[in-house]
Amino acid sequence: MKGLKIISTGSAIPSRNVTNDDLAQVVETNDEWIFTRTGIHSRYFCNEEESTLTLATDAARKAIENSGINKDDIGCIICATLSGDYASPSLSCMVQACLSLPQDIPVLDVNAACSGFLYGLEVCRGMLNATEGKYGLVIGAEQLSRILDMQDRSTCVLFGDGAGAVIVEAAQDAYYDSVLGAKGGKQILINGIGNKAQYIEMDGKEVFKFAVDALPKCIRKLQEKQTFTLDDIDHVICHQANSRIIDHCIKKLKADPDKFYKNMDHFGNTSAASIPLALAEMDEKNMIKSGDKLLLIGFGGGLTWAGTLITKE
Ligand code: UT7
Repeated sequence: MKGLKIISTGSAIPSRNVTNDDLAQVVETNDEWIFTRTGIHSRYFCNEEESTLTLATDAARKAIENSGINKDDIGCIICATLSGDYASPSLSCMVQACLSLPQDIPVLDVNAACSGFLYGLEVCRGMLNATEGKYGLVIGAEQLSRILDMQDRSTCVLFGDGAGAVIVEAAQDAYYDSVLGAKGGKQILINGIGNKAQYIEMDGKEVFKFAVDALPKCIRKLQEKQTFTLDDIDHVICHQANSRIIDHCIKKLKADPDKFYKNMDHFGNTSAASIPLALAEMDEKNMIKSGDKLLLIGFGGGLTWAGTLITKE
């Protein structure tokens, strides 16, 4: 079975920047509490013209432009999201329509909450292998601001909107592997269609405990499949929920903190978008060299977890 390598990245950031001080005007909170507990200073919320779809489409357009490939060669479109504009059509089908992407290919959404982008990569890999497709478009996009209870200070200060996308190529020689799993649980809960208010509810302490276990577990499980240590990895990109979760992991693993990328200070927690947003931001800053080994780790609602080893061409 062929693995995947990243050919290009793209991202889309909403226009409304919301600082912790802005939120302190809405709920009883302050910058000091939010920053020391989470590492978050500000996040972006969509304005009235923006949505998960506009963000996903913009990020995908940029990833396609940056790839240099012909968009007609895209063999599969996967969006990871829990906040698509419609329950149906899927976000992937809407991006397909907006960008006039090929029609005779698999096009679907994946919902594995904050692990969704890594689940999406693995689904894309399966689809490309099954159909002998060459390139895949994988997007993580969220407009979480529309499902935030702005009276609940324990959740509304944590999340933000954004989208990231990658073009991947299926290749026999790719340095790629992944581990996926889930525990089952409602510790992060958003009601379904027609069910009461659709707000994010979260048992933060329980999720925190889950996350600090999940992170090293993903690495351990990948090491059962592939021979590597963290010294072999150039960048570790974790889901950006809380800087304390990443710091905890660095300490537990006695790892080099410089390898762990963090950008939750200016994006907050963007669920399925956080890992591709970080990839795109690092790419823009030329932080990722060709062939660098990347370790991606997701954890979140479900309770899902995922670890991926991948390189960028
Ligand atoms: O993306 C999916 C993965 N999600 C995560 O990984 C999130 C994991 N959980 C967390 O990151 C942390 O649990 C939180 C950042 C959500 C919360 O941090 P905490 O240290 O667990 O705080 P807490 O919920 O225990 O609250 C401590 C205190 C409480 O007051 P009392 O009961 O001690 O008087 C809260 O009412 O802080 C209070 N509090 C706040 N104060 C100011 C809660 N939210 C706020 C706030 N501003 N925004």
